Amino acid sequence: MRMLVTGGAGFIGSNFVHYMLREHPEDIIINADSLTYAGNLENLRAVEQEPNYQFVRVDITDREALRPLFEQEIDVVVNFAAESHVDRSILEPDVFVRTNILGTQTLLDLAKEFKVRKFVQVSTDEVYGTLGDTGLFSETTPLAANSPYSASKAGADLLVRAYHETFGLPVNITRCSNNYGPYQFPEKLIPLMIQNALADKQLPVYGDGLNVRDWLYVEDHCKAIDLVIREGATGEVYNVGGNNERNNLQVVRTILQELGKPESLITYVTDRPGHDRRYAIDASKIRTQLGWQPKYNYESGIVETIRWYLSNQAWMEQVKSGGYRDYYEMQYGER
Ligand code: NAD
Ligand code: DAU
Repeated sequence: MRMLVTGGAGFIGSNFVHYMLREHPEDIIINADSLTYAGNLENLRAVEQEPNYQFVRVDITDREALRPLFEQEIDVVVNFAAESHVDRSILEPDVFVRTNILGTQTLLDLAKEFKVRKFVQVSTDEVYGTLGDTGLFSETTPLAANSPYSASKAGADLLVRAYHETFGLPVNITRCSNNYGPYQFPEKLIPLMIQNALADKQLPVYGDGLNVRDWLYVEDHCKAIDLVIREGATGEVYNVGGNNERNNLQVVRTILQELGKPESLITYVTDRPGHDRRYAIDASKIRTQLGWQPKYNYESGIVETIRWYLSNQAWMEQVKSGGYRDYYEMQYGER
């Protein structure tokens, strides 16, 4: 299978590339990524020489630059490429609309023209909006996005659906809850709090710290996408979640405990505008129909993740300094 993976230099995309090369060495992976601030080839250094792996620097809104990739007879497109951080979307929505909506539509057009066998859109539970104290998001929960980020992802999901309904493009959409694990950019809750705690800096907790997220280890998400690629029924949406609801204070306290740092580092700051209170996923469809099971337990997974960041401080420093871009220029010439 020849697979075009977009956004493969980001957090989940790079974990997915590692996962696929390990689990399916017979497949060919073409990683198309424009290397925004969130894309980091350091995440893929261990696989860059693999004969069945190729990296191409390309923006998913650039149709003509993408065309030669599709001319290589792509079987499957997996679209991870996105602007992914809610806080940035509040400051600068334009790029979210451009990449997440226009970029997805550009890929859909090419997938249609070149008759790919499957198009998998990696989406998010945030398209469903927010939950109160009870209930779970199912695949039939109405879309009710609350941030510019989630609105742009919801727009993309509807385009994916439309290309299936209107043009018969074989698609799937996966909607996953919060991922944690190696290679996450330190603007997101877990790596940010680890970094701040290590430097004895304040840990900025939004609002009352009681917003709830449903945490899933990134490799379990990769496994779910792999199953959907191979066995997902055409046109279907699959929710993916770890059944690990934790509020933000619980997550932050675990990090402090594991690092032996005091709770006095916690600082309550102004809440995120439009901050969704609670996300929780009903993953029974992917479990029963595709036999997906998460392998990682949150309690051990979070400790393993904290240790990963501890033993990969050089990676973290490079990401923070943007030093990986120098490496890219050395490897691939001019940007
Ligand atoms: P990320 O921000 O870490 O990585 C995004 C990647 O996309 C980067 O490598 C970046 O360079 C690339 N990219 C951005 N704009 C691009 C463009 N115009 N053209 C080509 N490449 C571009 O994001 P992530 O956390 O790995 O998320 C990956 C996908 O999964 C996103 O679509 C996101 O919406 C979705 N998702 C994320 C989570 C999560 O918890 N992180 C949960 C559910 C769904
Ligand atoms: O639910 C899936 C989504 O999870 C993905 O679609 C997004 O791409 C991903 O970024 C993530 O969104 P969140 O907004 O849930 O993740 P974030 O790490 O930004 O925040 C997690 C929670 O922690 C949220 O309630 C806000 C809070 N928070 C976050 C930061 C960065 C803080 O309290 N302080 C912080 O400094």
